[in-house]
Amino acid sequence: MSEEQTGHEDFEMDALNRVRAYHHRTKHGFGRYAASPGFMDWETQPDPFRRFDGAQQFPLPLAADSLAVLYADLFTPEGISASPLDKTGVGILLELSFGLAAWKQYGNDRWALRCNPSSGNLHPTEAYLIASGVPGLEDGGYHYASIDHALEQRCQFEPPFHGLLVGLSSIHWREAWKYGERAFRYCQHDIGHGLGALRYAAAVLGWRLRLLDSWGDGDIAALLGLDRQADFAGAEIEAPDVLCLIETGVDGDGEPDIDALLNAASAGIWTGKANTLSQVHHSNWPVIDEVCAAAHKPRTINPTPLGNAVDTHLRPHPNPPPPRESFLGGRTISINSTPLPALSPTLCELTAAELIKQRRSAQAFDGVTAIPAKTLCRILDATLPRTNMPPLDLWNRSPKVHLVLFIHRVVGLPPGVYLFCRSAEAEPVLKAKLKESFKWESCDGIPNHLRLYRLLRADARQAATTLSCQQAIAGDSAFSLGMLTEFEAGLAEGPWGYRRLFWECGLIGQALYLEAEAAGVRGTGIGCFFDDPVHELLGLGGTAFQSLYHFTVGGPVVDNRLENLPGYWHLERLQSSQHQRAT
Ligand SMILES: Cc1cc2nc3c(=O)[nH]c(=O)nc-3n(C[C@H](O)[C@H](O)[C@H](O)COP(=O)(O)O)c2cc1C
Repeated sequence: MSEEQTGHEDFEMDALNRVRAYHHRTKHGFGRYAASPGFMDWETQPDPFRRFDGAQQFPLPLAADSLAVLYADLFTPEGISASPLDKTGVGILLELSFGLAAWKQYGNDRWALRCNPSSGNLHPTEAYLIASGVPGLEDGGYHYASIDHALEQRCQFEPPFHGLLVGLSSIHWREAWKYGERAFRYCQHDIGHGLGALRYAAAVLGWRLRLLDSWGDGDIAALLGLDRQADFAGAEIEAPDVLCLIETGVDGDGEPDIDALLNAASAGIWTGKANTLSQVHHSNWPVIDEVCAAAHKPRTINPTPLGNAVDTHLRPHPNPPPPRESFLGGRTISINSTPLPALSPTLCELTAAELIKQRRSAQAFDGVTAIPAKTLCRILDATLPRTNMPPLDLWNRSPKVHLVLFIHRVVGLPPGVYLFCRSAEAEPVLKAKLKESFKWESCDGIPNHLRLYRLLRADARQAATTLSCQQAIAGDSAFSLGMLTEFEAGLAEGPWGYRRLFWECGLIGQALYLEAEAAGVRGTGIGCFFDDPVHELLGLGGTAFQSLYHFTVGGPVVDNRLENLPGYWHLERLQSSQHQRAT
């Protein structure tokens, strides 16, 4: 082995250790929370909207409500015919992913809610576009200003490809302001939710989304202009996360060459200065910068997808991949792809746009609503990867997230702790690792491919509440869950694999949110939970598996004191007053 190779491996090991150290240090436990300000410092509350002052703004049409596509249509094998890739299509894509969905008002307080959820409604995720040959848009790079539903032109240049790229970044400060050191985790969850939101929005247009996995974080920063220090002087920086290609099914959807695109962007004309979100930062969290640096992704050669990311039987793969392998719990096992049956139909009759915009997090559950086992099956099934089906088809890698369910009110399933294994390969490993006393009972009437097992019959309401930082939403629902990730397998990809585990959790969370809403109930993501007590309940030692996200679904209690306003009521008001002035 050369000295250079050894040096690189040492560097990576050091980065992995720093990622592990961050993870352990930011665990919540009984009587010990990860370091945070512990109060809301209203004086430094970050502006929820990033703007690039001086950049030219191009308003986008608000046209999502004109689409007749039903939510149910997103899952039909014949699919939806692709909308043209033009300014209207881009407007709908962003409206239904990162756009504002509603405003809530209580007394004099009014706050915006978006199609994508976010821990604490703090929205660290920013969205960017690179457009080339899109009718109605000048070629170049743009930032999406969700408050105005407009594109801010960051760079005028001619990209050497034809089509549309979407890039996502995180402003860690937005979350750290409230949550302190654990904020980096929440930013990663939000990227997963953002990817899910984008995938669903693309599906409404009959488009698909491909992760451009080989791009390094430095490449993404250069393309989106996040590394232009002068443009961020005095403003909170953004960390690059992910770049995706929009696939519309027409010629020209090919992946752009990284260097050619970066060269073209660096020679472009850049405009705009990022706004300052908080005038002062009373508390800083250096550990977030440290883990961000440690989990930095370099440019990589696209790996052969690990595992059966999609049920490839539906569409023959031109070059069948070699037998797949996954590193689970410290040993390597091979993965066999087993075809999944079709997803059972949803009973939801709403249009996709209606459902996406009405998605909300429940603040409280009624403690009585029960859902049929069939509904639970559909919700769980929708988190499995199927070809050309949002949102998990985006995740071209083996499932590394499994769900530990606390079932409270599901007709046909006795209350207790259950395990939903999202891959066949993980099942024997989990059987070997989880508490010996667990029963692993098959559940009557549940399709076999769902791999749902009852571990323990029990009233789990109090345990679920306690483990989710004493939040009643985990016990008053129909069911809540912990997302058990193959932690070491994720890190085996590289230190950046840590972020991807959260992204997969967020993607699953987005599916749970929309499926809950489609079933007439409601979901809520839960970032606050007691990490190791969850592992102890399951009898898990070591770090082969770690719980990274919780979620809850049930009958919501709606707060009728809040007034609801449409997402872009402020623009409509502006437009009508301008119209009145003109006439
Ligand atoms: C990663 C993540 C973690 C969250 N954690 C919690 C939580 O611990 N408790 C809670 O009540 N809500 C939680 N939420 C819900 C957010 O508060 C909610 O998404 C936000 O207020 C925006 O509201 P909306 O989802 O209705 O758009 C979480 C959401 C996300 C995406």
